[in-house]
Amino acid sequence: MNILLIGSGGRESAFAWKLHQSPLLDKLYISPGNPGTAQYGTNINIDIDNIKELVDFIKESKIEMLIVGPEKPLVEGIYDKLIKILPKLKIIGPSQKGAMLEGSKAYAKEFMKEFGIPTAGYKVFTKNQKEEALEFIDSIKTPIVIKADGLAAGKGVFITEDKESAKNNIIDIFNGKFGDAGNKIVIEEFLDGIEYSVFVITDSKSFKMLPIAKDYKRIGEGNTGLNTGGMGAISPVSFINDDLLIKTIVKIIQPTISGIWQKDIDYKGFIFFGLINVDGDPYVIEYNCRMGDPESEVVFPRLKNDLIKLLSSLYTLDLTEHTIEHNPNYAVTVMLTSKGYPEKYETTKVINNLDNIDESIIFHAGTKSVDGKLVTNGGRVLAVTSLGETKEKALEKSLKNASKIDFEGKYYRKDIGFDVE
Ligand code: AMP
Ligand code: GLY
Repeated sequence: MNILLIGSGGRESAFAWKLHQSPLLDKLYISPGNPGTAQYGTNINIDIDNIKELVDFIKESKIEMLIVGPEKPLVEGIYDKLIKILPKLKIIGPSQKGAMLEGSKAYAKEFMKEFGIPTAGYKVFTKNQKEEALEFIDSIKTPIVIKADGLAAGKGVFITEDKESAKNNIIDIFNGKFGDAGNKIVIEEFLDGIEYSVFVITDSKSFKMLPIAKDYKRIGEGNTGLNTGGMGAISPVSFINDDLLIKTIVKIIQPTISGIWQKDIDYKGFIFFGLINVDGDPYVIEYNCRMGDPESEVVFPRLKNDLIKLLSSLYTLDLTEHTIEHNPNYAVTVMLTSKGYPEKYETTKVINNLDNIDESIIFHAGTKSVDGKLVTNGGRVLAVTSLGETKEKALEKSLKNASKIDFEGKYYRKDIGFDVE
């Protein structure tokens, strides 16, 4: 099968690595990809906003499956546009209606309310309800969580103990800080607990769970400092016992899939549940309509199934006949980042010693080739994933290789995998 994968980060490197292992793969194209994905397929540059260009490429290259890595094209309706023109194409990713679960936090909250799915208490305000939103702040207790409704590249969530800064944040959002993504806000109750990431693939009716993971979002060790796109991840997650797992399935996953079915949403792809464990009970923090990053860098290395077979089953409607097989080992990924990240960071630093790695898989997140040399090209540069019988062993391998890889200003956390909350 010929496959086109959209995206360019660590997640797409992990997808490409996994797809490459399938005997069902003929040709893999990645648009735009990065030097990491180029190890497993052919990088190409398609302007995916130009549907004609995309359709022409799919036809010419006899693409049978399109995997959409990031959320933006899904929220903008790539599925709906393509399926009309190419009804036989296996598109992995939901319709625009399904992608609203990530694309509109207000919609996601209403969906959860409708189907009785546990989540933080909330209230939605539109731009013309600014005064009501500001008054509402006076009536609630802190910490206060304010979210811009739409996609804001992970920057749309503001948590504060201080009511004045909460109000200023609301004013900023309604004044256009996140553009149209801030036409509505959700103000919600703060949940105190430990977060974890659950992934399923669904055909809109049934689902299969992939390995559970946890990412480490803060820049500093001990979960301190600024939020990032993710400094590392682990799978499995040791605090998830049978009780929490069953509650996660029964209270969260099943009613979500049932809601998708009842609302007649066409959803053939991944759902990423951002969950929080509050005293043994799971709550939804957010839905995402795609795989996580850096979670993919530990989930795919632990998934034993043939990914192409699994994804094809969303279209052949035999998902339920598949059994998900996990590698029982721990997987840990450590993200190497650029100096300055997550604020303004350095780029184009030459990366050395990548050919000197053993016992880890290197996924490229932000790299590029310049004159035959590999250089840094993002805040998050490389994800170093290792498997081990214990999390300590897995982490030790990743740290050993993280210290070998060399670029100016390299930074990474050494406590990935530990319950530091
Ligand atoms: P989101 O983009 O909705 O995932 O929010 C980003 C991060 O903000 C989450 O990963 C949590 O760490 C935090 N967060 C969001 N909502 C809440 C909440 N209701 N209570 C506590 N923390 C939250
Ligand atoms: N790791 C969080 C995300 O992919 O959004």
